Amino acid sequence: MDIRTKFLDFFKSKGHQVYASMPLTPDDPSLLFTNAGMVQFKDIFTGKIPAPAQKKATSAQLCIRAGGKHNDLENVGYTARHHTLFEMLGNFSFGDYFKKEAIAYAWEFVTQELGFSKDVLYVSVHEKDDEAFALWSAHIDPARIQKMGDKDNFWQMGDTGPCGPCSEIFVDQGAAHFHSEEDYFGGDGDRFLEIWNLVFMQYERSADGTLTPLPKPSIDTGMGLERVQALLEGKKSNFDSSIFMPLIEAVSALTHKPYVYESGASFRVIADHARSVAFLLAQGVNFDKEGRGYVLRRILRRALRHGYLLGLNQPFLYQITQKVCEQMGNAYPYLIEKKSIISEQCQAEESRFFETIEAGMEIFKKELSSLPANTPFSGDVAFKLYDTYGFPLDLTQDMLKDEKIDIDLERFHTCMQEQKSRAKASWRGSGDVSKNGDFSEILNEFGTNQFNGYEHSTYTSKVIALLDSSYQRVKTLSSEGFVIFDITPLYPESGGAIGDSGELYRAGEKVADVLDTKKYFGLNLSLISPLKPITQGDSLEIFVHFNRIETAKHHSATHLLHAVLRKKLGTHITQAGSLVEPTRLRFDFSHPKALTLEEITEIQEAVNAIIFKNIPASTECLPIAEAKAKGAMALFGEKYGDIVRVVNFDKESCELCGGIHVPSTGIIGNFYITKESGVSSGVRRIEAVCGQAGYAYSKDALDILSQTKALLKNQDIPLGIAKLKDQIKALKNQNSKNTSANTLQETQTIKDIKLIIQTIDTNDIKAIIDNAKNQYQKIAILLLHQDGDKISLACGVKNAPLNANDWIKGVAKILEGGGGGREDFATAGGKNPDNIPQALDFALDFARKKIQDSL
Ligand code: ALA
Repeated sequence: MDIRTKFLDFFKSKGHQVYASMPLTPDDPSLLFTNAGMVQFKDIFTGKIPAPAQKKATSAQLCIRAGGKHNDLENVGYTARHHTLFEMLGNFSFGDYFKKEAIAYAWEFVTQELGFSKDVLYVSVHEKDDEAFALWSAHIDPARIQKMGDKDNFWQMGDTGPCGPCSEIFVDQGAAHFHSEEDYFGGDGDRFLEIWNLVFMQYERSADGTLTPLPKPSIDTGMGLERVQALLEGKKSNFDSSIFMPLIEAVSALTHKPYVYESGASFRVIADHARSVAFLLAQGVNFDKEGRGYVLRRILRRALRHGYLLGLNQPFLYQITQKVCEQMGNAYPYLIEKKSIISEQCQAEESRFFETIEAGMEIFKKELSSLPANTPFSGDVAFKLYDTYGFPLDLTQDMLKDEKIDIDLERFHTCMQEQKSRAKASWRGSGDVSKNGDFSEILNEFGTNQFNGYEHSTYTSKVIALLDSSYQRVKTLSSEGFVIFDITPLYPESGGAIGDSGELYRAGEKVADVLDTKKYFGLNLSLISPLKPITQGDSLEIFVHFNRIETAKHHSATHLLHAVLRKKLGTHITQAGSLVEPTRLRFDFSHPKALTLEEITEIQEAVNAIIFKNIPASTECLPIAEAKAKGAMALFGEKYGDIVRVVNFDKESCELCGGIHVPSTGIIGNFYITKESGVSSGVRRIEAVCGQAGYAYSKDALDILSQTKALLKNQDIPLGIAKLKDQIKALKNQNSKNTSANTLQETQTIKDIKLIIQTIDTNDIKAIIDNAKNQYQKIAILLLHQDGDKISLACGVKNAPLNANDWIKGVAKILEGGGGGREDFATAGGKNPDNIPQALDFALDFARKKIQDSL
């Protein structure tokens, strides 16, 4: 049964508007992920924005509960019902119907559409909610209604936000399979399974814990799709249902191990986590050291570690994510579009993790070998393995099992606690709550204001409202604050483009500077600094700052760049972020590797070619489906209305965008890529300039060239530099002969072999090693130079029984880097200076052991 469609159709037939699942990453600093269907409607519930005309809504919302208030991560795999990602089916009323109808709808859907017999249904209500009890009694035998306390029957989204008493519907799975003493209705056993939570939203909880009644009592419900699917298929665990079994079977095929429920936690973890990884990557979240990307990384690592327990020691999860895309692609077509990028990003992150596993094993072995008898394994090292190398505690415990060694758990948990406080402090939300003032009064009074900046850059308009700098309504504004015009040509910051600045005039006299323009809940607000008091009702002449055209050039250039990247590198390129200013642009996009110099040049040439063709821009407003059918590139997660604006540059580019653009590409003038770099794994960044800034950039470059030429006494520049380089080389050789004689200290001599391992100030390590090799008959030398976070290493071996390539690889791994070379000479880099002492210890142990073993 397609439960999702059935649910949405049912509520549609009851006059509810169907909403698409909102992004998993809400623009809400109080939430790590979207964790319930109501998140999409939070501001409507609290009255911050007015309810839509259609006050009844329904959705099938993807949710993640792997962080924040509702965090199920550690339970997943070990229970029948917990998931990191699941779909919540919900119906909502914004001050329209309340308890009576919500209960009647739920009852009708459960008994008539899903076909559950009355004999298996039970209900709980809040202990003080006599009204709900009475309403339910019209449908179900009161003996089957249980009153419960706040713990079970009061729901809130987070520590703050809308909340209220709730009522839950349970299905009795029958006595036959459940024999625990807790398997009575209201007990802690699994027999009675909650499927649907009806929340009667009545309050808003503020940060100090107080409950304030909401303007209009509302309804928020949530039914777990995966649970209902399993029940209807007669399964005792969600994982046995047709949603998870194909994924579990795929794991079984990869491991060549049969899935047995009792010992199958690792299979279930992988199946569950593959879904979160696929959806989060598809929605543009990247693996990261903090915030949401960090949770994504933890989910992936937890899955890999369970794979490791099943004997998988190379990337595999990406294959399961592909299954997820195929399975869910019908309901979520973007999974199909993003299928290959999900695979690439997942696989790259997996490879990185498996590399760290090896480095972690070195640390683990080292700690173990130096552990005195009858001593627990260090909690700090176990934590380091967990935190830096991604070894979950039970993996380390597992490895210690054979040796019968325990971990100092108390210390481990202390480190963990400290880390948690750090993580909490580093989680900064994506919005600034203080700025989200209460605009509902203005919206109710005037509705949203109109933007006419596509046609105008000056316009005379009426001030409809003024807000002071703390967003309070005022009649007159004499210091910095916000102005709202009924119609405004000032473009608000959006889609990566900065907001307009400008000037305001009254009867020919300048009265204020416009510093910035932003948009909140459909209101276009300009931040102004008045020279004369501004009063509500004033008629003012608005002049948009001239630099808007420079911003437009960079904005249009961004569209051309996006189109060219897709053409040259492939359609896996999707925008991951962008910034457009009058003097520069920045464009982030998904791509697995750094661009080569040739690619960069080619891309720059192609964008300039479109500029020189002077292709006219055209815009049209279309229903979203038509725009997509035309091939318009849309960003996932942008909340476009039903009608969208499409910006075309003939056949070269077609993109959904509300921004201001040049009338034809020739106006952009020129385009230079100034930098290409990596932002996070799988995401690259291009920075570029055009227009006036492009001219300044090329002029600077030409100036530097003429100054260089003058410095080289008018020689041909490449030739002059080549000569200088030769001179430097000769001087360096001379210099390092002196340095090596002065600074090298012998670490020890084993059987005539000089062993030298040390850090060194100069980074000309190679020359010093060459010199030392000339100086001694038998030598093994490894030098390390640190420059900030960057570490360079080189080692040389002459007439000694060890391999320079093996030696340096082991050391570089501990420094979280890599390298290699020949048997007699190798170089490497590293990026974790904290590990230098360990790395040097390792280098010494390694060389000593090799030399001694050969004796
Ligand atoms: N928001 C409610 C829940 O998540 C329906 O259970």
